[in-house]
Amino acid sequence: MFSGIQPSGSMHLGNYLGAIKQWVQTQSPEAYYCIADLHALTLQIEPAALREQTTDYVTSLLAAGLDPEICTLFVQSQVPYHAQMSWLLECVATFGELSRMTQFKEKASRQHGYRVGLLTYPVLMASDILLYETEQVPVGEDQRQHLEMTRLVAERFNNRFGPTFTVPVGVHPPAGARVMDLQEPTRKMSKSLSTPLGSINILDEPSAIEKKIKKAVTDTDNEVRFDWEQKPGLSNLLEIYASFSGEKPDEVASRYSRYGDLKNDLASLVIESLAPIAARYRELRSDPSTLDAIAEQGAAKASAVAGPVYRRAAEAMGLF
Ligand code: AMP
Ligand code: TRP
Repeated sequence: MFSGIQPSGSMHLGNYLGAIKQWVQTQSPEAYYCIADLHALTLQIEPAALREQTTDYVTSLLAAGLDPEICTLFVQSQVPYHAQMSWLLECVATFGELSRMTQFKEKASRQHGYRVGLLTYPVLMASDILLYETEQVPVGEDQRQHLEMTRLVAERFNNRFGPTFTVPVGVHPPAGARVMDLQEPTRKMSKSLSTPLGSINILDEPSAIEKKIKKAVTDTDNEVRFDWEQKPGLSNLLEIYASFSGEKPDEVASRYSRYGDLKNDLASLVIESLAPIAARYRELRSDPSTLDAIAEQGAAKASAVAGPVYRRAAEAMGLF
């Protein structure tokens, strides 16, 4: 199992419900989780902010329940094979394939003079995944296309250079795989695009969480029904509720007749569920040397797996 998260902005409810919660539930000695700081460079992030946020993410993932005694948690740039493998795979993927990626088109359309890394981003992600002979990639729905790209590159490589890579599949959670922006419920909750009111961060104060849920955009007909087409805002709230309570969104909907009641209960549920994570975060964050040691140990474990796979791929391509 392999997955990754970019250390940009604060970790939000979409990250937690779409990805992290699954990581914690399914962690094992065969699971590798990476903080994708190389990917975050595509956001043109300030160096000091990147450094700070990388530590923040190591801490948040531990606080959310990843246990470095069970799984491997590491920072991408501390394992040099990711960038090396990415070059090999850039010589396998095509420009056409990369320029058709939805995320690329969306982000490129917002930036003048966007950098090449924004285009090649999915190749680096494929490298992350393929270096660990990964079978399963737990991610949110927004990464589906990048996963398809990874499979395509792996298959093409295997056909051209002989069996080298395991071809992985994406694993998406039953609820919460796509958490939408609370203010614009037709768009995903996003670190780079959501406004403060549109996204709930896992370290938000209870009062902020309550305010954001109360102000979440719904519709005006006041009928509680799970229906993404007609009621995206309300359905998003039902889905968030369901993924915390372990129910189906329909079941949650059947208990409520008023939006206000649903919002009140949802606020309590989210606050209660996130409180232990925030408490543990504060405790861990006060001990930077332990965090550094955990990252270093994770990078060593990851390198031991990624190194041989990198060399196999390099040799298959004819590198000396
Ligand atoms: P990112 O923050 O883009 O690095 O994403 C890290 C993980 O969170 C990936 O598995 C994403 O699929 C997942 N994710 C990001 N945004 C959302 C969202 N709004 N809903 C569900 N999952 C998400
Ligand atoms: N691109 C992913 C995202 O933005 C993060 C990521 C980087 C990732 N490398 C990965 C996810 C490898 C899964 C596997 O969500």
